[in-house]
Amino acid sequence: EIREPINEPYLGYAPGSAERAALKERLKELKSEEIEIPAIINGEEVKTGRTADVVMPHNHAHKLGTVHYCGEKEVNQAIEGALEAQKKWADTPWQDRVAIFLRAADIITGPERFTMNATTMLAQSKTPQQSEIEAVGELADFFRFNAWYLTKIYQDQPYSPDGMWNRVEYRPLEGFVFAVTPFNFTAIAGNLPAAPAMCGNVVLWKPSPESIYSSWYVMQVLKEAGLPDGVIQFLPGEGADVGDPALASEHLSGLHFTGSVGTFNHLWKTIGNNIEKYRTYPRIVGETGGKDFIFAHKSADVDRLVIAALRGAFEYQGQKCSAASRMYVPKSLWPEFSDKLVAEVKKIKVGDVEDFSNFMGAVISRKAFEKITGYIDYAKEAKDAEIIAGGTYDSSKGWFVHPTVIHTTDPHFKTMEEEIFGPVLTVYVYEDKDFEKTLDLCDNTSPYALTGAIWARDRYALKQMADRLRQSAGNFYINDKPTAAIVNQQPFGGARKSGTNDKAGSMVNLFRWLSMRSMKETY
Ligand code: ALA
Repeated sequence: EIREPINEPYLGYAPGSAERAALKERLKELKSEEIEIPAIINGEEVKTGRTADVVMPHNHAHKLGTVHYCGEKEVNQAIEGALEAQKKWADTPWQDRVAIFLRAADIITGPERFTMNATTMLAQSKTPQQSEIEAVGELADFFRFNAWYLTKIYQDQPYSPDGMWNRVEYRPLEGFVFAVTPFNFTAIAGNLPAAPAMCGNVVLWKPSPESIYSSWYVMQVLKEAGLPDGVIQFLPGEGADVGDPALASEHLSGLHFTGSVGTFNHLWKTIGNNIEKYRTYPRIVGETGGKDFIFAHKSADVDRLVIAALRGAFEYQGQKCSAASRMYVPKSLWPEFSDKLVAEVKKIKVGDVEDFSNFMGAVISRKAFEKITGYIDYAKEAKDAEIIAGGTYDSSKGWFVHPTVIHTTDPHFKTMEEEIFGPVLTVYVYEDKDFEKTLDLCDNTSPYALTGAIWARDRYALKQMADRLRQSAGNFYINDKPTAAIVNQQPFGGARKSGTNDKAGSMVNLFRWLSMRSMKETY
């Protein structure tokens, strides 16, 4: 049995530290060369010639490389190769499969630590600290804890009365799993193909074109760790070019998805339309969006609340699906809270993530920039809202949006309801006497239910809030920010329109990639 892992400790990258110097050196090396990113099918690099440039969000004139995009032909080749690879992979003892991912975790936290951190900084415009916690820490944690959960799952066997031997075989699914991964977390990009693969499945991985650079290095680590050819097929491309042929195959056995609700609905409907074709009902696991809340009671600790709001809303430019984006504050706390919040927001430094003193980098793309600034401009014009901090942006060098706080008198104001996926926090101030009514509002305002945080010193109030908001968030935080779940500590996922809530990095998730065979033998 594998020893119970511990969460990977983070490096701090303090000024003058050896790790800061090493990371800076790696950034310099990576930036000095342009790379060519092919597809990987059956272990072979495939260059399709249909290419796109890979650039940095915080300096869009800087090209990191070129990526080759796949289409139907490559997807069909990948399916055929994966099914061939599955014959051996599914029969490989689980200890041998899991060993590959344990080794990958050691590469990520060891010799390639600064590569993982630097590529995520450059590709996704993450600060070194934000990269470290996920592209190193969370990714390694996913691999190590999933390996450990699997040892427990495989050992869990049913009761056998005298005269018989009952057992359960945890088979992989028959066919291939399609993993569609998001730009915002390198850890999620790595985990979505890896979790089913560890369970003995073969996987077609469609990484996000917006973070293809760091995903490519994850694929390199897996190869280095000994992943056999064809087990994970790496297929960069535009959504439908890869998705349509993958979902049209009779061999689709599952979808492991993180991304927008629109894309997830589209994929689900496509699977529904193709349902007659499939040999087996595909497992559908998805995490979509959030409109995550912080709800403060009048007994909340204002100083701590300010820090939670800042970190929850603005770390990684608000591009975490867990980011705080709407807030409910009682009128009695508002003057002190708003003064302190605005003062702190003004201190936030936004800019090139390679300047380690910046707290925020750029948003991911022109499209994201335009969407976010569209909401900010809307708030500027609206009569029932006021921008009390930020509201400015600059795209001349990178896609920079400054941290923005909107105060609204309308609890259904557009930015209270819609997912923005950027550094925009909207606050609704409620009358203290309307506490209960406002809890109802909080529960009913958004179709999402991913994360949420409640703040109070009063224990009765905390209980009342936790009860009333039971279905409002799959990850619920008490006197904390609603972001930064840690593997094996706060299993992550939400229900309603936030997804299927098959918690990433948990046994629940792994069970979705296993198909049990019950076996009864009589003596
Ligand atoms: N797991 C990430 C977080 O909790 C999304 O912020």
